[in-house]
Amino acid sequence: MNWSSLYDGDPRRINYLRVSVTDRCNLRCRYCMGEEGIRLIPHGEVLTYEELLRVIRLASERGIRKVRITGGEPLVRKGLCEFIRTVNGLPGIRETALTTNGVLLGEFAEELFSSGVRHINVSMDSLKPECFESITGRPHFEKVWNGIREAERLGFDPIKLNMVVIRGWNDDEVVEFARLTYSKPYHVRFIEFMPLGDPAKWKEELVVGTDDIRGRIQELGPLEPIHRSVTSGPASTFRLKGARGRIGFISAVSHQFCSTCNRLRLTAEGRLRTCLFSDMETDLKSPMRNGISDEGLLGIMDQAVRDKPRGHLLEADRRPDLNRRMWGIGG
Ligand code: GTP
Ligand code: 5AD
Ligand code: SF4
Repeated sequence: MNWSSLYDGDPRRINYLRVSVTDRCNLRCRYCMGEEGIRLIPHGEVLTYEELLRVIRLASERGIRKVRITGGEPLVRKGLCEFIRTVNGLPGIRETALTTNGVLLGEFAEELFSSGVRHINVSMDSLKPECFESITGRPHFEKVWNGIREAERLGFDPIKLNMVVIRGWNDDEVVEFARLTYSKPYHVRFIEFMPLGDPAKWKEELVVGTDDIRGRIQELGPLEPIHRSVTSGPASTFRLKGARGRIGFISAVSHQFCSTCNRLRLTAEGRLRTCLFSDMETDLKSPMRNGISDEGLLGIMDQAVRDKPRGHLLEADRRPDLNRRMWGIGG
């Protein structure tokens, strides 16, 4: 069986696995963890590198070609670069990418590069140090920015900057972020604020929709569309005339992209999650710790993938309980 051709008459090709290696983080973004009340997974409940590798190896046998390492903040886990080097050596894996908040990027960029990572996505919600601090709870703007510069110097490509646009917090910087693509080769992505995590933190009024953001960027000129590749994610991508970088939109709230969803997620505590917006998760850790065979584990994974929802229920009357912590799923 190959997951990339599992669904008859359905364009979804499952070839992309997002792996959260930790729920720990060295920032406290107000829309995510905040300062108060984070319940962390006990260390023993987080998958070991051996367990993670086992799941990734089996997934690669089923057609997974791209692995994205996420967190929490993945770079806070010891031994990450060595782990990534091993993932890159697995037959079948063509690409290992990293999503990071950038705080430790300067420190680890060289080692990451030598372990084979080329694609990195960095959260960057503001270009103003004070605003950055008020959103992330930490004064690390310079550190993150220097990390991005260092990654550029070393030749990482693409470098994608993720800006979660939140009304009244940072939406006044949308045009400035778009303008950055003239001088820098970065892909700037505008992300709609999604209702994941503490329901008290998400309000519809805070969401700035893609159409609104595009409207504001139009003052810089028209956006030329760029075509997608098979492992592309949910972003729709454009370029401003004469720009070095690109502009992307991740319209998770205003548009559904379920029909082309190519991804699975492995949470830090070893659950296979087939849809970000569904509570359905399949425990892989317990069977592994109870000594299941590779065939047995593959059987469980196959069933979970067969059951991947065809669409999410965000707009339906019965919203699933999405009070799941973003930092254990990895976005
Ligand atoms: P690449 O396409 O591999 O560059 O990655 P990406 O853009 O999917 O990854 P990244 O970790 O940078 O995530 C950017 C934003 O997209 C985050 O807010 C994620 O939560 C969101 N995102 C990623 N995958 C999905 C998805 O399948 N569904 C939804 N709704 N949002 C997603
Ligand atoms: N909505 C949209 N994006 C989010 N992220 C974290 N929480 C949310 C949310 N509620 C983003 C981070 C990071 C990426 C992995 O997910 O900013 O860039
Ligand atoms: Fe911010 Fe990401 Fe850390 Fe959450 S996991 S606090 S969004 S850096």
